[in-house]
Parts: sequence; C-alpha cells; structure tokens
Amino acid sequence: MAKKPWRIGTRAKLLLRGLRYKPLLPYASIDGWLSVDEAIALYELSRGLPHEKPLAVEIGCWQGKSSVCLARGLAGKFHPRLCCIDPFDASGDDASAPTYGQRAEQVGGALRQTFEANLRAAGLRELIDVKPGYSHEHAQQWREPIDLLFLDGDHSYDAVRQDFEDWAPRIRPGGYLVLHDVVHPVHQGPRRVVQERIEADRNWVDGRYVDSMYVTRKAMT
Ligand SMILES: C[S@@+](CC[C@H](N)C(=O)[O-])C[C@H]1O[C@@H](n2cnc3c(N)ncnc32)[C@H](O)[C@@H]1O
Repeated sequence: MAKKPWRIGTRAKLLLRGLRYKPLLPYASIDGWLSVDEAIALYELSRGLPHEKPLAVEIGCWQGKSSVCLARGLAGKFHPRLCCIDPFDASGDDASAPTYGQRAEQVGGALRQTFEANLRAAGLRELIDVKPGYSHEHAQQWREPIDLLFLDGDHSYDAVRQDFEDWAPRIRPGGYLVLHDVVHPVHQGPRRVVQERIEADRNWVDGRYVDSMYVTRKAMT
C-alpha cells in the first residue's frame, strides 16, 4: 500500500509561526475557511486596535473560526466589542450555499448554537455581540464608528458591493477594512470590488494581500 504523504496539521503550522500564537489554537478546531496566515493577520490587526472601547465588525461568521481570531486580539482591552453579523441559516451566494448546507448538517443545522459554543469554549463569548440576520438589514440602523471591518458574508459581486457601500463609510479614518476570498478560483465578487472600488482610490491606503485576504486602511482625512 502506498504511504500517505506526510502533512503538517493546522496546529503545528500555527505554532511554527511562533509560540506567541498559542492563544489562537482554538481556531484550528473550528469548521470554516481561514488559512493560518489569515488567522494570524486578523489577530494582529485586532490586537493593534486602540485599547479603549475598540469595535470590530464581522460580516459572515459561520461557526466562529475568524471570530475567535478577531476576539482573541481584542481580549484584555478596555470594553472591547466584536459584533458578529450572520443569518446562521447556511444561506449565501449560489456558489457557496450547497456547501454551507452540507456542512451545516454536520452540526444538525445548529449554526448559531455552535458558533456560541465555540466562542464560549475559547473564553471569548463575553466580547461578542451576536446580531443574527443579513448585513444589509443591520446596516440601516448602524451608527457607531468601526475600527475594523471584516467582510466575509455573501460573496456575489452585488452583495460584496452592497456590503462595501453600506459599511465602509462607517469605518473611522485610520480604521481597517479586510475582505476575504479576494484571490479565489470561484468567487469573483470580492476581487472585483477591490479592483473597482478600492485599489485605485486614495481614500484607501496600505493595501496588501495575506493569502486570499485583502487588508487596507481608510486614509486619515
Ligand atoms: C464563508 S462563510 C464565513 C466564514 C467565517 N468567516 C470563517 O472564518 O469560517 C460566510 C457566512 O456568511 C453568511 N452570510 C451569507 N449572506 C450573508 C449576509 N448577507 N449577511 C451576513 N452573513 C451572510 C453565510 O451564511 C455564512 O455563514
């Protein structure tokens, strides 16, 4: 029988980046879509936010893989908050919904309960403000300035553009905008929005890629 190729697991990969990333270990056992370097980038970005009342917003949380990374970076600050927006019903763009449906079955469809249990197991539930529902609906009532916005919800072009239009104006000057799946063989939405609306706009600075993620910062006015 042919030997299976030796593969290094996510936990080992994380620790090989440095023992300082040990607090991120719970991320490795949560179902979702986030590479080790993307996880570290989210953690480092949220860790670098202001100490007093930092506010991060995540659109598209699934079972909390990226939420754990963002929340871990906020932990220890004064009154930190991570607002997590997701319908928790496995809905999404046409390319993703079948996969979401299949993977949701593995937790009996209990996505919100699984999300909350994962955050609780990581000791981070208290930082999280869970907002069930669609991003566009929540955007209508949103008033607070955001320090970091992570867009990882519906990946169709129209939906990503709508998220960008709804939420980017709420980011404070100097705050971060992060989009996931910008480099992706199937999803074109995030890439088109970055190319059409962000990369050549001087209101967005310090753009860089981390695996499939694009990270940028709103210019100071
Ligand atoms: C790719 S998954 C998120 C993955 C997660 N960030 C992770 O690290 O594993 C996308 C999530 O966004 C949700 N979603 C789809 N449309 C949405 C919308 N309009 N607003 C908020 N969330 C949405 C999906 O149901 C799904 O839970």
